[in-house]
Amino acid sequence: MLPPGSTIGMLGAGQLGRMTALAAARLGYRLHVYAPDAADSPCAPVCARATVAGWDDRTALAAFAAAVDVVTLEWENVPVDTVEFLAERVPVRPGAAVLAVTRDRIAEKSFANGLGIATAPWRPASGPGDVALARDAIGPHCIVKSNQLGYDGKGQARIGPDTDIAAAWRSIGSDSCVVEGFVDFTCEVSVIVARRGDGAMAVFPTVENRHRNGILDRTLAPARVPPATAAEAERVARRLADALGVVGLLAVEMFVTKDGRVLVNEMAPRPHNSGHWTMDACATSQFEQFVRAICGLPLGSTDLLMEAEMENLIGDDVERWAAILAEPDARLHLYGKAEARPGRKMGHVNRVTPRR
Ligand SMILES: Nc1ncnc2c1ncn2[C@@H]1O[C@H](COP(=O)(O)OP(=O)(O)O)[C@@H](O)[C@H]1O
Ligand SMILES: [Mg+2]
Repeated sequence: MLPPGSTIGMLGAGQLGRMTALAAARLGYRLHVYAPDAADSPCAPVCARATVAGWDDRTALAAFAAAVDVVTLEWENVPVDTVEFLAERVPVRPGAAVLAVTRDRIAEKSFANGLGIATAPWRPASGPGDVALARDAIGPHCIVKSNQLGYDGKGQARIGPDTDIAAAWRSIGSDSCVVEGFVDFTCEVSVIVARRGDGAMAVFPTVENRHRNGILDRTLAPARVPPATAAEAERVARRLADALGVVGLLAVEMFVTKDGRVLVNEMAPRPHNSGHWTMDACATSQFEQFVRAICGLPLGSTDLLMEAEMENLIGDDVERWAAILAEPDARLHLYGKAEARPGRKMGHVNRVTPRR
């Protein structure tokens, strides 16, 4: 167990790191962030220390490892070499094996399917010819996704029966992709599981996610799905976290189909945008739970105390901050980013109401 007063090293310096730093501080921990862009980041103003250095800067990495008691991350795409170099010097939670699965859609889907957990039908593709063959096998409506480094709907193309596949392939700009059958879902849900090194787990209730332009727009907690569906989503998430041996958090995004099945879409081994509602409506926030899990502390209660709707503030949405502050049930969270570019996550608001 790492007691309060310890220093948590964080790879990546965005809003997830910022909110982790705030939760860590409340429990008496210090957060030391490391990222190439840490200087002018959401983390810098709320962290005990920030190292601004490249992922391949071995001198800076060694000094960072010596200065912290444990390393975690808010971004699963940190280079493998970086993680392995650090892991020789200090515990890294979650570890390289978890990252290898969750940063790569082919590995992720293979892992889930290997446990008997359903996904949309999918095929790997390394060129437009593979996409055409996959469409023949899967059906006329598909989505092609870059295998790595996609987020907020980036690196994806929808394919229909008449789509110019060569043009769609070029628009993605990756030579390793997956082709997935388009799921005509009734809703999207997600579950966040916390897991400690000794295998203890705690699961947050299933929530419902609505996207706009490929970016999460709103999360409704709890999800408006039958109890059996919510329970199945939670079972799947626990099974994945346990089989992966995650230490920290695992967020699992899923589709609920018209016939009530739950299909895994993707996973992230860190706090997740669809867990921001926990900050104001749960006994323990996902960020505090993350700190508890990586430090080996007792996990907190995941009981939902209030009903919540989280709205992301994207780009210019943030200009509504004063009106949001005037709403009695709204809890505003801003990330301190200077420039509100289109598509950029600037903050979020949790609207909470007593449980019905
Ligand atoms: N196979 C699919 N069928 C239907 N909608 C999909 C499918 N895959 C992705 N989507 C939609 O696109 C969104 C973003 O895709 P996702 O795979 O989660 O990538 P990202 O890493 O960008 O979040 C999903 O939340 C969902 O709304
Ligand atoms: Mg997603």
